[in-house]
Amino acid sequence: MKAIFYASSTGNTEEVANKIGSKLDGFELIDIANDGVDKMNECDSIIIGVSTWGEGDLQDDWEDCLADVQEVDFTDKKVALFGLGDQDGYPDEFVDALGIMYEEVTTKGATIVGKTSNDGYEYDESKAEIDGEFVGLVIDEDNQSELTDDRLESWCNEIGESL
Ligand SMILES: Cc1cc2nc3c(=O)[nH]c(=O)nc-3n(C[C@H](O)[C@H](O)[C@H](O)COP(=O)(O)O)c2cc1C
Repeated sequence: MKAIFYASSTGNTEEVANKIGSKLDGFELIDIANDGVDKMNECDSIIIGVSTWGEGDLQDDWEDCLADVQEVDFTDKKVALFGLGDQDGYPDEFVDALGIMYEEVTTKGATIVGKTSNDGYEYDESKAEIDGEFVGLVIDEDNQSELTDDRLESWCNEIGESL
């Protein structure tokens, strides 16, 4: 099974998840606020969408499901991550939730696909940046919504080959 697991407080991550779902074949869309993360256990390819809230925190539904994510064995699972954030409003915690989720799944053995360049973003600090690149796709609907479709197109082309 292949699925996109997401949660969304104001609809931005949901919209991006839907667009990714329409570009890639065979991925079920799962809103974890309703369905939780149990189906991760049945998946061999997983896409996870998280937004950052508070000051560098996981979105609430992800926070509520974190203990369940920590129960999943990600060994032999391919995982691609995307994160929504606001680089102007939160330049010191930009898309931190993406970095938090990366830590969780790699600790449990996930094989990560779909890291991206941080070119074209302006921020000071991000937990999602490791060695000069982002651990997944970064979307900023607050400041750069005009770039979203191109960013999605190239990321989906890339991960579609490996997931
Ligand atoms: C109160 C509040 C706190 C936020 N905190 C952060 C943050 O720490 N880092 C960040 O990159 N974005 C932050 N954001 C921006 C959201 O992550 C961004 O608007 C995102 O698109 C929301 O996605 P969602 O509606 O799918 O939850 C915050 C937004 C609000 C309103």
